[in-house]
Amino acid sequence: MTFIDPFGRAITYLRISLTDRCNLRCVYCMPKEGLQWQAHADQLSVDEIVRVVETAAQGGVKRVRLTGGEPLIHPHIVEIVRGIASIQNIEEVSLTTNAMLLERFAQPLADAGLTRVNISLDSLNSDKFRRITRGGDLNRVWKGIAAAERAHLAPLKLNTVIVRGLNADELPALARLTIENDWHVRFIEVMPIGNAQDWGEGFPAPSERYVSVQEMRAQLSTFHLQLSTSPKGNGPARTYRIPGALGTIGFISPLGEHFCQNCNRLRLTSDGRLRSCLVIPAEVSLREAVRSGEPLEEYFQQAISNKPEHHDMLAAVPASSQRGMSQIGG
Ligand code: 5AD
Ligand code: SF4
Repeated sequence: MTFIDPFGRAITYLRISLTDRCNLRCVYCMPKEGLQWQAHADQLSVDEIVRVVETAAQGGVKRVRLTGGEPLIHPHIVEIVRGIASIQNIEEVSLTTNAMLLERFAQPLADAGLTRVNISLDSLNSDKFRRITRGGDLNRVWKGIAAAERAHLAPLKLNTVIVRGLNADELPALARLTIENDWHVRFIEVMPIGNAQDWGEGFPAPSERYVSVQEMRAQLSTFHLQLSTSPKGNGPARTYRIPGALGTIGFISPLGEHFCQNCNRLRLTSDGRLRSCLVIPAEVSLREAVRSGEPLEEYFQQAISNKPEHHDMLAAVPASSQRGMSQIGG
């Protein structure tokens, strides 16, 4: 059995949101308060997650990424990684984290079979970092990065959501990080998904925030970026290099069309629903099936048969924005 969607794309990559909760409140992702969390009883258990990934692997999934919310606040994160990494045919287990807990978890996770981490880093200035994340400690990110390097969770990727009036002025400084570090810094367009409303006092208004990847590249023109081959598993980023730099720079346009053409991904939400597209809200719940021990292949086939050829970009977002990135799993 191989999972092929109606447009001939093989599904080889599964993104799993382990929890909708987070220990930070990044302005573009979550409102400051008034959030309603999923009940723990509605979330898949470690064994249930492993069973779902076993079916995915039988269908051709080779790479798994754990996201959230914040995956490192899941009380069984190490067991989940170990369980998934030991499944036959799974070649890579990676994780997207805000790094607040990474110093503690990098080595245990590497020992459990984690291969890589993506770290969210939206500012190099501690005060601004604290404001964007509403309480995050930049120092802990640096300690987490050092721990990830010691644990050989490489190549290390740093994700920055660029927002005009907030951190767009840091593009050159963030790009410069790649000169002496073998890191992959990826600049991401802010999406009107998650927390698209007013971010409060001192933050840019919704209409001001968006910076296109074209504009970001133009802002870095003094670096004479060269097109470069993508580092392993780089997915939808277009990759460049400052001449002579150790690391690379990527630009991600999540709502841009080129994202869709080679889309090999499927998502699993923390409450056990398969979702075939970030933007289009159709979901297939397999929670009851996994709890009653039913075979799961059919649920995968159904979810994959829903996968659109491409999303309608910005036009499609408002309809689906009720469920934010922290629920769908970035
Ligand atoms: N726009 C762009 N990226 C987002 N993320 C979350 N919300 C948004 C948004 N509104 C992504 C960022 C962050 C990761 C956890 O999720 O890349 O680093
Ligand atoms: Fe948490 Fe990531 Fe959302 Fe920030 S972007 S609130 S770190 S899930």
